[in-house]
Amino acid sequence: MGGTEADGPLWAGRLEGGLHPEVLRLTQSLDVDRRLLPYDVAASKAHVRMLGRQGIIAADEAAAIADALDRVAIDEGAADEDVHSLIERQLVAALGDTGRRVHAGRSRNDQVATAFRLWCRHHAWLVVQATADLQDALLDLAAREGDAVLPGFTHLQRAQPVPLAHHVAAHAWALQRDIGRLRAAQDAADISPLGAGALAGSSLPLDPASVAQELGMTGSFTNTLDAVSDRDFAVDLAYACALSLVHCSRMGEELVLWTSQEVAWAALADDVATGSSMMPQKKNPDVGELARGRAGTAIGRLTGLLAVLKGLPLAYNRDLQEDKQPVFEQVDAALGVLRLLELAYRGLSIDRERMRAAAADGTTVATDVAEELVRSGMPFRDAHAEVAGRIAEGDRFDQPTPEQAIAARTGPGMPGAVQEQLTRLAALVAESRALPEPRP
Ligand code: ARG
Repeated sequence: MGGTEADGPLWAGRLEGGLHPEVLRLTQSLDVDRRLLPYDVAASKAHVRMLGRQGIIAADEAAAIADALDRVAIDEGAADEDVHSLIERQLVAALGDTGRRVHAGRSRNDQVATAFRLWCRHHAWLVVQATADLQDALLDLAAREGDAVLPGFTHLQRAQPVPLAHHVAAHAWALQRDIGRLRAAQDAADISPLGAGALAGSSLPLDPASVAQELGMTGSFTNTLDAVSDRDFAVDLAYACALSLVHCSRMGEELVLWTSQEVAWAALADDVATGSSMMPQKKNPDVGELARGRAGTAIGRLTGLLAVLKGLPLAYNRDLQEDKQPVFEQVDAALGVLRLLELAYRGLSIDRERMRAAAADGTTVATDVAEELVRSGMPFRDAHAEVAGRIAEGDRFDQPTPEQAIAARTGPGMPGAVQEQLTRLAALVAESRALPEPRP
């Protein structure tokens, strides 16, 4: 029962003849917005039940439409303009004239905004869960190898010794801020535009607040024009995912560096490494490189979405149809890369000796040696000059050891007090995992 040109688009009344097949092909959005189907079905049910409660359509017809909505599915070869048209076509096919009552008081403009908001609300939560899983893998690595010692870098030059737990916790804190942004994006999406109609509401006695309530949304729109044209929630999610991918890119780059033979502090498990079609010896960190590369395309999608929005007059414009593909792809990329990195960290092995040897080269404790001189009364600038001079002459320090240097830095957030951070992070992971799933 695929839609055909003969069925005609929803708006066929005004225009004569059918749409040119190529125009349909080039303007349709079903290929992309089919992913909105379960969200639009949920919103359509809430809408039609409200029509029944308000006496706009008969109660038994409302019930029949709600029931038929459960059986709507993307049919093979569907040629509808978009997923909203597909749903209405199938309701009419199933229920005849009753199906033709579903769109009272509604436009595809408030319909698409609602379905897209429900999709974004749910997927923001899914990305939170994937982020918490990656944090958990980092905490797992900290539990396994956290007391391994490495030289922390500035400018990618050996700087000061830190425990591996402190280093991976730094990544976990960045991910925790991502969770804050994702939760804000989830909240931004959580407003129902249904009832705003095409742009200016409806004269029918709609009850938008009850529709929002049925969808488990925090409220309904406050301005009809804004309701159908606002895509800030989509930008919020695209941005939250872009920054998450930027953080993942930094982790990916680090995996590339650490698994390089030149550093060789870590090795990927075989099932996350890739080989070469020509060079038999190769074990490549493609997962890290894809994490890095996908952040690049994600930044592009965020920029593209902002550019689509920047010149639009109020209210709905068809340009807005371009909003979904970048956001879908952004979320797919974030979910995929977060999972890839989770798998990479869960199987990562650490060469503790090589790591420690780099931290124990006799230079990374130079600051601690200078601070010892400060403790005995020397001005820091003089202590710095003295230790720098000794390093330049070839002196290397075996006291304090890297472990002693770490243990002496115990202030809040410092590497010697890392256990407290790990405990807090574990509690935050548990909190994220307990967040209720905002199903449509
Ligand atoms: N497929 C459209 C979109 O994604 C749905 C809204 C179409 N509304 C309209 N008046 N043409 O934006």
